[in-house]
Amino acid sequence: MTPKQVTAFAPATVANVACGFDVLGFALEAPGDEVTARLRADIVAASVIITSLSGGEGIEFDGIPLDAEHNTAGKAALSLLQAANAPFGVELKIRKMMPAGSGMGSSAASAGAAVVAVNELLRLNGIRHFTPMDLIPHGMEGEAVASGSKHADNVGPAITGGILLLRGYNPLDAVEIPVPKRLHCAVVRPHIEVATSMARSLMPKEIPLKTAIMQWGNLAGLIAGLMKEDYALIGRSLNDVVAEPVRAQLIPGFHDMKRAAMAAGALGCSISGSGPSVFALTDSLEAAQKAASAMEAALRPYNVDCTEYVSKLWGTGPKLF
Ligand code: HSE
Repeated sequence: MTPKQVTAFAPATVANVACGFDVLGFALEAPGDEVTARLRADIVAASVIITSLSGGEGIEFDGIPLDAEHNTAGKAALSLLQAANAPFGVELKIRKMMPAGSGMGSSAASAGAAVVAVNELLRLNGIRHFTPMDLIPHGMEGEAVASGSKHADNVGPAITGGILLLRGYNPLDAVEIPVPKRLHCAVVRPHIEVATSMARSLMPKEIPLKTAIMQWGNLAGLIAGLMKEDYALIGRSLNDVVAEPVRAQLIPGFHDMKRAAMAAGALGCSISGSGPSVFALTDSLEAAQKAASAMEAALRPYNVDCTEYVSKLWGTGPKLF
């Protein structure tokens, strides 16, 4: 019998990776969101209903809308079903493991898991099958609901895993960058919310040429470092002279956390996505654990609770259950 229900996982992601504003992101192994898609022949074809929204311990999801058009997972699933001309509707159950506005790609993880699950339902029912790369534009539709902007540096790697460079958006040109074997990531998520739309409104509209030269030098250096597994070059390149200077003020203790991560041996440290999470990249698991503890200790005097994550980069494609 053809399965009528599929569950997919999509991970947290670190967008921008310091110098790659809107064009670079990577996936963590954990945490991540899960979305179950169930075929419904009794609702309008290519429509979506969301029947359950739940969260891991301590994860707030009260403000997340349940109507599909205004929900990141719902909107992404609708976009995919319509593109496939699906003869059935889909019911979604969403389980969130990160709060919205965390800087860890929470909306992208839900949108990514939704398109991966719906894609599998379409395949199993002989309708159509999209490659992970082809799912990204549908994930972006969902991401736009949350942030008001169609960028793919979270939702891209949430779908494909690994490190993804968005070389261009028109048309979308996503390039998979190999994940260096020893690369690990520490993320500290202060328990405050930063709306991506607000953080984006702080971005400069124009950048002096000198600043642009530094930023594209760093981004090219970072990509070269990742491809050559040159950890020193990765470290020298993890430098953001465009977004971090204007967004650091949104994160209590950011500069202290960054200093602490670097003193603990991190290759580099910056804001994860639009914040408030802060990430550090390291060349070993032990160094990532040290960086996470050091950042957490540096945040303590600011009386802001936080959650720490230490993870390898997630190198495989979509995960289905
Ligand atoms: N590139 C995006 C930003 C990621 O920094 O605004 C957050 O969604």
